[in-house]
Amino acid sequence: MANTTPAAHECKKTFVVEHLDPELEAWSSLEYSAIASECTAHDARFFLSSVPKELELPENLQKVKGLHVEHRSIETLFADQKDKVCLLDPSAAQELSPEDGEKFHVFLFGGILGDDPPRDRTSELRNKGYEGRRLGPVQMTTDTAVRVTRMVVQERVPLDAIPYIDHPELTINKNESTIMPFRYVKDENGQPVMPEVSA
Ligand SMILES: C[S@@+](CC[C@H](N)C(=O)[O-])C[C@H]1O[C@@H](n2cnc3c(N)ncnc32)[C@H](O)[C@@H]1O
Repeated sequence: MANTTPAAHECKKTFVVEHLDPELEAWSSLEYSAIASECTAHDARFFLSSVPKELELPENLQKVKGLHVEHRSIETLFADQKDKVCLLDPSAAQELSPEDGEKFHVFLFGGILGDDPPRDRTSELRNKGYEGRRLGPVQMTTDTAVRVTRMVVQERVPLDAIPYIDHPELTINKNESTIMPFRYVKDENGQPVMPEVSA
């Protein structure tokens, strides 16, 4: 009988953010909402896993299309496909490459607000034994990490061909600005791609 199991490159890509923070902060909900919209636009699936049952989702996330909220963890969700799951891990020895889109079809991220200096909370997922890949040496926000991974494994753009902006300075008002200690994708206007904050 013919083998009907699709190869990894024939499967819809699945992006899983394992929510690791006790709360779901407003900024995380903007990042998750941006990931859901981009996954929908690019024919990919997005799971937000390990969401505690008692956690009430912010309104913007309740309405967003393409978001699958899961109370189960990655270990239960993809228990039978562990070798198809790639953990995006800032401490991994190997960089992500377009060929990884053929090897893996589930890409796993820590749902953690970035911290400076990084506290390596991705280790909570690394300790579960998933194969890891790095996205370069600079810490990205979770939505940026998903965006870059999607570009590499879906669009087959090598990691070092993606335009980035590191540590951009954001103007808050005419007297104040703040440096964001992360790497972002640069858009066609030379600006960092960030979640949209609706008025
Ligand atoms: C905001 S980062 C958190 C990094 C963090 N400070 C920590 O404690 O591990 C959220 C997630 O994005 C992914 N990520 C961010 N930068 C990355 C990089 N340079 N390489 C691989 N994955 C990255 C990882 O999956 C990470 O768990």
